[in-house]
Amino acid sequence: MSPRAPEVMVRLTAEGSDRSYPIHIGPGLLTQAGLLRALVDDRNVCLVTNETVAPLFQSSVLDALNGDDAASRRVTVVELPDGEAHKTLASYERILTAALEDKHERSTIFIALGGGVIGDMTGFAAASFLRGADFIQVPTTLLSQVDSSVGGKTGVNHPMGKNLIGAFHQPIGVIIDTQTLETLPDREYAAGMAEVIKYGLIADANFFDYLIGHTEALIRRDEALLADVIARCCAIKADVVKRDEREGGVRAILNFGHTFGHAIEKEQGFGVWLHGEAVAAGMAIAARISAGRGGIEPGTVAALTGFLQAFSLPTHAPDGMGVDAFMSAMQGDKKVQAGKIRYVLLESLGNAFVTPGLDESEIAPNL
Ligand SMILES: NC(=O)c1ccc[n+]([C@@H]2O[C@H](COP(=O)([O-])OP(=O)(O)OC[C@H]3O[C@@H](n4cnc5c(N)ncnc54)[C@H](O)[C@@H]3O)[C@@H](O)[C@H]2O)c1
Repeated sequence: MSPRAPEVMVRLTAEGSDRSYPIHIGPGLLTQAGLLRALVDDRNVCLVTNETVAPLFQSSVLDALNGDDAASRRVTVVELPDGEAHKTLASYERILTAALEDKHERSTIFIALGGGVIGDMTGFAAASFLRGADFIQVPTTLLSQVDSSVGGKTGVNHPMGKNLIGAFHQPIGVIIDTQTLETLPDREYAAGMAEVIKYGLIADANFFDYLIGHTEALIRRDEALLADVIARCCAIKADVVKRDEREGGVRAILNFGHTFGHAIEKEQGFGVWLHGEAVAAGMAIAARISAGRGGIEPGTVAALTGFLQAFSLPTHAPDGMGVDAFMSAMQGDKKVQAGKIRYVLLESLGNAFVTPGLDESEIAPNL
């Protein structure tokens, strides 16, 4: 295996315009000044991060930005409090206010340094700053590296629900330094791993088998392996997004495990289970239902649950959460269309499909 995974290109040609962007993946990329400066050029920067990530990586990014032309570049740093609870319109406004106070113009580039919370908020701030500025994603959690930093969904939460306010806004580039994962807490790393195995289930049977076969090395966070795995996830996500940028159709397969997962998050109270933990249980439930219909082999379900358990991820609904609680929570999901809950199931390993047709009697025994 190569020590450095290849760059993945996201090619988006919808709406008649070519908006391709590179995803650079590998260890130590944050200290490669040329990479960031090639994307930023001589433009001013608004760097958004949080109180946990700033002490870890902010200086590397600032060093990379402040090369020979340091004197001429204006860099505003916005350091937000940590956590999903701060993914709010108030934080979004703080980013915009800081950029306006420092007299940034539309040519300024926003850089999101952190996990999915920072990435989503920064992208939304960039989308609306002076009617639209460019932004770069520098994701530092496994989940944000394989999922939220690619695809252009940005936004904030509203007291009435998660991610209810936002915009589709693609970054001009993504820089994934796999070394940032060294400091990630085990629970956050495992939550990202749930999204990793999802790509194998919905799109690539060989990748699924590969992940199962490398479970031990993934637990060890083998650096070269991770760069390769992240690149394969980004390539799958980029391909799905290219085919359906605004989730009119095939993009919905990325929600495998999420319909049940969101119900768990909502029922438990957001933050009790991490998103990736809820998705892990949701995927196991959806896999058991798929196997019951003959879509996948029971052995595949066993391999999936074994993999998830190796990362201490849940594979069943929380104790006491029955089918009635699932049905009422799922009815409120924003992905419900015309009153119909849309489920993603597997017609075979590596092939997912969306269906509204799932009876409670099919769900109950698989929770
Ligand atoms: N836009 C999309 O397509 C999309 C897709 C999936 C999820 N999301 C969103 O992403 C968010 C979840 O993202 P997340 O799981 O990255 O959570 P997060 O951003 O809250 O990060 C998790 C925790 O890890 C910390 N952290 C980040 N990098 C670290 C590092 N390298 N070392 C140590 N600690 C580090 C963070 O400060 C935080 O405490 C949710 O808001 C979700 O809605 C968006």
